Amino acid sequence: MSQRTLVLLKPDAVRRGLIGEIIGRIERKAGWAISALELRNLDQDTLEAHYGEHKGKPFYEPLVVFMASGPVVALVVEGERVIEGMRQLAGPTDPIAAAPGSIRGDFGSIVRENLVHASDSEESAERELKIFFPGLV
Ligand code: PPS
Repeated sequence: MSQRTLVLLKPDAVRRGLIGEIIGRIERKAGWAISALELRNLDQDTLEAHYGEHKGKPFYEPLVVFMASGPVVALVVEGERVIEGMRQLAGPTDPIAAAPGSIRGDFGSIVRENLVHASDSEESAERELKIFFPGLV
């Protein structure tokens, strides 16, 4: 089943020079393709639209501050079961709980600075892609 998903390389990944490493892992996945890519700074409206469902949770404010702390790379990734597959490639939210071999397991240790975002369902992917790539057909 071919799908598309939104991936964000978070400010820590960009600052640490991990763009190539992470994109390389995505590119090497058979049958997946990057169909849009942009380096950008996220404004408050975009962050609120993207993370609004978490408003009120204790991690919301620090998360939004962190996500505005530097540029992110936003990607559209298409391919076979890419929504589930990108979540596997990223690993769980807490990098210490993430297995070696996953992006968070290999490069992270702090929950907030967990390197990547990947949409968690088809509904989230559709909603998030519209926020970051409104021109997508
Ligand atoms: S929840 O409540 O289960 O839906 O939360 P979760 O899916 O684990 O996380 C939602 C997003 O918030 C980020 N997050 C955090 N950021 C900073 N600090 C803490 N403690 C924290 N906990 C969760 C998490 O990385 C998710 O963001 P994305 O961009 O989807 O990775």
